[in-house]
Amino acid sequence: MADKTLIDLSWDDFDEARDPRPTSNQFDAVVERAVSRRGFLGGALAFGSAATVFGAGLMSSTTAARAEGAGFAFKPIDIATDHAIHVPEGYAHKVLVRWGDALWSEADGAYDPETGVSVEMSDKVFGENTDGMELFEVDGKQLIAVNSEYVNPKINLPAASEGVPQTADEVRLLKNLQGVTVMEIAEGENGFEVVKDSPYNRRITHETVMELQGPLAGHALVQTNADPEGRTVKGTMNNCGSGKTLWDTYLTCEENFNGYFGATGEMPEGEGYKRYGIGGEGRYAYEKFDTRYDISAEPNEPHRHGFVTEIDPANPGSTPIKRTALGRFKHENAEMVQASDGRIVVYMGDDERGEYLYRFVSNGVWEEGTNGGDLLNDGTLYVAKFSDDQTGEWLPLTPATTGMELAEILAFTRMAASAVGGTTMDRPEWVAANPTKVEAYVALTNNKNRGVKPNAGGDDTSVNAVNPRETNKFGQIARWTPNGGNHAADGFAWDLYVMAGNPTIYDNAYAGSDNVNAGNMFNSPDGMAFSSDGMLWIQTDGDYKNEGDFVGMGNNQMLVGNTDTGEIARFMTVPNGAEVTGLCWSADRKVAFVGVQHPGGQWPDNAGKPRSSIVAVWREDGAVIG
Ligand code: FEO
Ligand code: CA
Ligand code: CA
Repeated sequence: MADKTLIDLSWDDFDEARDPRPTSNQFDAVVERAVSRRGFLGGALAFGSAATVFGAGLMSSTTAARAEGAGFAFKPIDIATDHAIHVPEGYAHKVLVRWGDALWSEADGAYDPETGVSVEMSDKVFGENTDGMELFEVDGKQLIAVNSEYVNPKINLPAASEGVPQTADEVRLLKNLQGVTVMEIAEGENGFEVVKDSPYNRRITHETVMELQGPLAGHALVQTNADPEGRTVKGTMNNCGSGKTLWDTYLTCEENFNGYFGATGEMPEGEGYKRYGIGGEGRYAYEKFDTRYDISAEPNEPHRHGFVTEIDPANPGSTPIKRTALGRFKHENAEMVQASDGRIVVYMGDDERGEYLYRFVSNGVWEEGTNGGDLLNDGTLYVAKFSDDQTGEWLPLTPATTGMELAEILAFTRMAASAVGGTTMDRPEWVAANPTKVEAYVALTNNKNRGVKPNAGGDDTSVNAVNPRETNKFGQIARWTPNGGNHAADGFAWDLYVMAGNPTIYDNAYAGSDNVNAGNMFNSPDGMAFSSDGMLWIQTDGDYKNEGDFVGMGNNQMLVGNTDTGEIARFMTVPNGAEVTGLCWSADRKVAFVGVQHPGGQWPDNAGKPRSSIVAVWREDGAVIG
């Protein structure tokens, strides 16, 4: 397969192109028995009868009837299909920062509308494809730490290359435009702007030196030619969602790291490569120019990525720390809470079809006002098991339960989760914990393989109560309440907060749950964050063609969900082609910062290339919105 085809594929399709899953498997017979096959508007579609059984019964009893949004502080907006941002009446917005904007004066004018950014300036500007972000208050200043998840090589490289780097410098350019940015922002006459040349401004890229900590650090599995000690790693990559620790540091989550590695020669031995989708040709051809990415030469380098990495935005000279105790997988985000018994809990999704939802619980307790970084090196990882009776449990991943050594559990966490029988999920994206009650939510974005193909480890992905629809194209949001009001408890009760769907063309489980209606339809929930009032902000990364199953949904959008009544209302739409991802609020909670990733057209400049950007949104009357 040509490289230019690989970069055009979605992450999951890329993995499956390199490692095709069987199209039938041992559970097909079971699914066949459970499935009723009917034709529906939009084409013949099969769905599990489990969906009809589970779809209604598992919905929260508090979900509202199909009513248009009421009880929100804004008038819900219509869908859009244009190349613009839309917010409710009485709200305003502006672009805070775009890919290529200078973080230091020396990079003024570094962005060229025709050619993008030069390699020399590529680590002095805001990176491409903004994603998770968090706001920090440091010495009276406001800092945003924000991920640049990946680059679009076709936008950044000369047209003749067709998106495949031709030189080491072109690889360097791509590497530098990804990673993390820390930047000071300040509010002036023109609203919030980036403070150029702030001493807090910082770029962290695929080249930044960081430290491995936790039980995997120093192990033979993470030793390389460049780092025989196995403790010092270059780079954090494919930084997707985010988290904020209780001690005010930033957590950046390494998601589709596997695609950066390729094999120019022989594949090393080991089941782990296959389970993590590593091998063959890399998505970006890095391996042809930098042996670090060539697993034929450096078989352990990929074991040093796929972690949650902690960064201290208040200290620009600090070394980022990869927290191996939180496991290695395609980390979406990391939602930290303190359990009622004082321990630290981090909820984390592994975003791939049929992978798992995880929880880390520290051994030690956190005391307010202290740096709890060491707590993240010492604890237990768990995988979630959702039972069809709406209870669930966290299964510990330990040498005793998995038959694996601790270091292996942390390096090959997916295999440990398979060994104990966690519940395969419909692509766990962000987890968000409600600040006003002891409960948490996970966005299960979609999974066209549900009930069709096993996951990369061959695990059964038959429909089940929490993932109730075969070939799930719309997604759902599940929530759980820990037993005893303690996030560290081993058991929980769960329900589905919403099943996305299209009630204008379906009258079955694909219509979605009762809190989905013609006025708030969406697909593929992804980013989520709670505002301080306990409202759930939901961001989508889905099909934006507004046709077929997705007719009436328009461009990707941000909605607000009332978690008491179940009502959901559309707050914002983003330009056609974009997903909306990343959300944080100003210190006074009057401004929301929203990430707009991979826009289409020529947004926001109306000229040149489309530019991923962070947008500031506020109420014209100056009231709090977050
Ligand atoms: Fe980077 Fe799963 O989104
Ligand atoms: Ca995401
Ligand atoms: Ca997504």
